[in-house]
Amino acid sequence: MNDTKTPKIFVTRRLPGLHLDRLRGVADVTVWPDSMPPSRDDLLAGVAQCDGLLTLLSDRIDASVMDAAGPNLKVISNYAVGYNNIDVAAAGARGIRVGNTPDVLTDATADLAVTLLLAAARRVREAANQVQTGGWKTWEPTGLLGIEPAGKTLGVIGMGRIGKAFARRMVGGWNMPLLYTSRTVQDDVDESLGGRHVDLDELLAQSDFISVHVALCDATAGLLDADAFSRMKDGVVIVNTARGEIINQDALLDGLNSQKVFAAGLDVTSPEPLPHEHPLVRHPRTIILPHIGSATDRSRNAMAEIAVDNVLHGLRGESLRCEVNL
Ligand code: DGY
Repeated sequence: MNDTKTPKIFVTRRLPGLHLDRLRGVADVTVWPDSMPPSRDDLLAGVAQCDGLLTLLSDRIDASVMDAAGPNLKVISNYAVGYNNIDVAAAGARGIRVGNTPDVLTDATADLAVTLLLAAARRVREAANQVQTGGWKTWEPTGLLGIEPAGKTLGVIGMGRIGKAFARRMVGGWNMPLLYTSRTVQDDVDESLGGRHVDLDELLAQSDFISVHVALCDATAGLLDADAFSRMKDGVVIVNTARGEIINQDALLDGLNSQKVFAAGLDVTSPEPLPHEHPLVRHPRTIILPHIGSATDRSRNAMAEIAVDNVLHGLRGESLRCEVNL
C-alpha cells in the first residue's frame, strides 16, 4: 500500500477462521460485534472514512453508504456469491471495486438444493411433524404419499455454476430428463447431461420439478409470478436456493393451496427471516430453511479467505481475486 496512512476497514459481522487477522496486519479494522446486522445508522457511522468494507448479503450497500464512507473507499467485498445487496453501478461510478466469493459454495448449495427437492417431494417436514406432535398413529398404506423424482423432468432456471452442479447431481443420481434456461446454450450440459436449452415457457409447461438458480436482478425479480405458476404442470415441486424475491410468494401460496404445486423447498424467502406465522411457513407442504446454502465449515471458511483477499487487493489498487465490476 503506497499511502502512508493506515487504511480503515469496516467488517459488518464476525467471520469464521483467522482470515480477518490478515487484514488486521495492514489496516485499522472494526468488526461489528453483534450477531444481528448493524442498523442503518450504525452502518452509516461505521463506514465513515473507510478505505474498504467487508459486507454480508443482509447489508444494503447503496450510494448513500458509499457517500457516507467518503472518497477513500476503494473496495466493497461481499461475503457471498450473490451481490444484489450492493448497488454495483453506483460503486462503478465512484471507482469502487466490488468483490464476491464464487465457486467455493457451489457444492454446498447444490447439495442443499438436492436436499430440499427430496424433502419437499417426500413430505419430510410433514412426516417428521407427525412424529414430533404425536400425530402419527399407525403405518398406513396411503399415508404421506410423496413423489419420486426418478425419470421425471427436471427444469433448472439458470445454468450457472450452482445450477450445473445441481443438475449433475439430479441427472446422475435420478436419471432425470433435463430442461434449462440460461442466457446461452451450455454445450457441456447438453453433451454430458443430455440437457436441452429451452425458453421459460417450455420449461414451465414441461417440468415436474423446478429449481431456481439465477441471480436476483431487475429481470429476475418476480420471475415466478401468478402467470408463471398458471403455466406449470399440476403437482409441480418448486425449489429455491437463489434469492426469495425471484418467486412471488403469494402466487406460490395460491399454487400450494390449489394443489397446482405439490410442495416447495425454500432456502431463501423475502423477507429473511419470513415471520414464523407467515402462511408459507405454516403450510404443511413447505420446507423453509434459514438461508443455509453455503453453511458448511469448508465453504464459509473459503468464503472468508476470498473476501479478505478481495479487500487486500482492493486496498492495493489491484484487481480483486473475484471482482464483479471494474
Ligand atoms: C450467497 O453466497 O449468495 C449465498 O446466498 C449465501 O452464501
